[in-house]
Amino acid sequence: MQQNKEYKYVAKIYNYLMRSVDYEHWAQYILSIYDLLEIKGENILELAAGNLKLAEKIAVRFPQVIASDISLEMLKLNDNNLNKICCSMEQLPFKINFDYIYSTFDSLNYLNSEDKLKNFFLEISTVMNGDSYFTFDVSLEKNSLKHEKRLNRKGKFGNIKYIQKSEYDKNSKIHLNHFKIMLEDGRIVEEIHKQKIYDFDYYFEVIDDAGMYVAHCFETFTYENANENSERAQFIIKRKN
Ligand SMILES: C[S@@+](CC[C@H](N)C(=O)[O-])C[C@H]1O[C@@H](n2cnc3c(N)ncnc32)[C@H](O)[C@@H]1O
Repeated sequence: MQQNKEYKYVAKIYNYLMRSVDYEHWAQYILSIYDLLEIKGENILELAAGNLKLAEKIAVRFPQVIASDISLEMLKLNDNNLNKICCSMEQLPFKINFDYIYSTFDSLNYLNSEDKLKNFFLEISTVMNGDSYFTFDVSLEKNSLKHEKRLNRKGKFGNIKYIQKSEYDKNSKIHLNHFKIMLEDGRIVEEIHKQKIYDFDYYFEVIDDAGMYVAHCFETFTYENANENSERAQFIIKRKN
């Protein structure tokens, strides 16, 4: 889905919609977690790196960081000299362990079934050792309820027009973002992003089942403990052995 030619228009619009994200602040938070955990190694991997704006900031301190994403078109948005790998976080192509792995902006919510999420934690543990840490943020229900309406929007970027419709279903806990993109030549490209909003406690369960544990769980951008009423939770996890 994310590999077809038309996806480049989706990637462009997505990048445009992300223009106000403060990636410098986000990168400093991710680096502060690295420091807090007193990690010694410098093998670092970003999952679902998107437009690479965050990886660019992390690379100022760790130029060897590897940025990965399932979408080649997203990775192509940025022609910097970063190490980039196009791959799914559900099937990692690495034969080495990483000391620090991170993922930002609710990318794990794209693993939109319980099986996908479970398998993902088993997969990530294969590129970690007993000293490695993995940190990621997830969007919780409060965040979906708060932003559902705001994400219904339309606009124009260059000669491309777009309409975004956002819909959160409390029963299925699926948050859909539907993008309709009208190109200059009249073609229409449509893309649906389907994210699953898992219960806060569920993450602890699947992480435990995968042989890992939660070392910390903060409200994202803080060092305060998160709970089921948080909007976004920052998990920091480790292998049990
Ligand atoms: C909300 S964006 C976040 C991008 C980036 N982390 C940021 O903070 O701007 C979600 C990203 O997840 C990627 N993605 C979705 N499913 C994925 C998968 N299975 N494996 C790797 N990347 C995935 C998408 O291509 C997209 O770039």
